[in-house]
Amino acid sequence: MRDRNSHLIDRRSALKLAGGVAATGLAARFPTPAIAQAAALKVGFMLPYTGTYAPLAKAIDNAFRMYVDEKGGKLGGRSIQYVTVDDEAEPAKGPDNMNKLVSRENVDVVVGTVHSGVAMAMVKIARESNKLLIIPNAGANAATGPMCAPNIFRTSFTNWQPCYPMGKVMADAGVKRAITITWKYAAGEEDVVAFREGFGKAGGTIDAELYVPFPEVEFQSYLTQIAEKKPDGVFAFFAGGGAVKFVRDYAAAGLKKSIPLYGPGFLTDGTLQAQGEAADGLKTTLHYADDLDNPANKAFRANYQKRYSAEADVYGVQGYDAAALLGVGLDAVKGDFAATQALYAAMRGAKLDSPRGPVTFSAAQNPVQNIYLREVRGGKNAYVSIAAAALADPATGCKMA
Ligand code: BEZ
Repeated sequence: MRDRNSHLIDRRSALKLAGGVAATGLAARFPTPAIAQAAALKVGFMLPYTGTYAPLAKAIDNAFRMYVDEKGGKLGGRSIQYVTVDDEAEPAKGPDNMNKLVSRENVDVVVGTVHSGVAMAMVKIARESNKLLIIPNAGANAATGPMCAPNIFRTSFTNWQPCYPMGKVMADAGVKRAITITWKYAAGEEDVVAFREGFGKAGGTIDAELYVPFPEVEFQSYLTQIAEKKPDGVFAFFAGGGAVKFVRDYAAAGLKKSIPLYGPGFLTDGTLQAQGEAADGLKTTLHYADDLDNPANKAFRANYQKRYSAEADVYGVQGYDAAALLGVGLDAVKGDFAATQALYAAMRGAKLDSPRGPVTFSAAQNPVQNIYLREVRGGKNAYVSIAAAALADPATGCKMA
């Protein structure tokens, strides 16, 4: 576990200091809440810093810190102390890793994670401990569905959101019979369910659903099945290193020209440099496009490029907005993190001027946002149209919704 700002005073030290002050009889002139508010807020990042999702973790971590630094290093007047845990995108280690942050480090807020299976372990512990959890990627529907809670927010998407609109996009493009292929875990499975719903409503049928164990990247036998079945189109969910390999293998197998490949935008986000020409022309749906013509996006991309010498992507946007959302809450309570109800109410009511366009939050505390159709052109995920405007997840089973 790394602690990059260990020089900053933490909450426990501040409270100890407050205790000392009280013992000397100065408590009335120096009330504890003021000291607690002056102390740094402890943010625990639980992200997959290693493995196939490592670039996603890096982008989230980078952009969160960038937002805080753009605000002078403080949110709601509180400086931020960071603690990081590498969750390795490994659901079995999820409870232990979350407990490291919640119990051992006693962070104020946990920001994580990328992988839906790991996120569900975090959600369970967040519900039991009442710790504030902000999910900056993982789309597990249940986190803002049946498992929703006042202390759980998401700044990314549900797995349903980017995949449901793809059904109509593919049907409109003339795809009548499709094959789906994805990693076999919650995100891929929920993506297929959402796509099937949208595609079915638009008149399409799914010929076969192919599942690859996570995080394997040996795709050859699956590509052979696709070539044999000759569907009109393929819907695929992979992300990070797996998406790079899949898109390259798909093109190398000669399938790209004859069987168009589609998917949620994770297939081509943060991956284009490594995918090269293999990704050209791919159409995907997502809550972000590189060239969205709004001032927040232009500033975000320019600052990210300057600070990290890298292109920003959707994962960065989600990390940036996680910090922005926390900032809205902390501003509302003037840094008094103990004012939980007011903090959460402000976060729920936030209207973010995000690089992705306007974002509000549903009663289940998940983003309400545009889903864009994009096309890979000139090494960018270029905006084509709005596939679904201000789309809210149905949040089925959430008692707050
Ligand atoms: C997920 O597991 O929810 C996920 C991971 C990477 C990209 C998108 C979703």
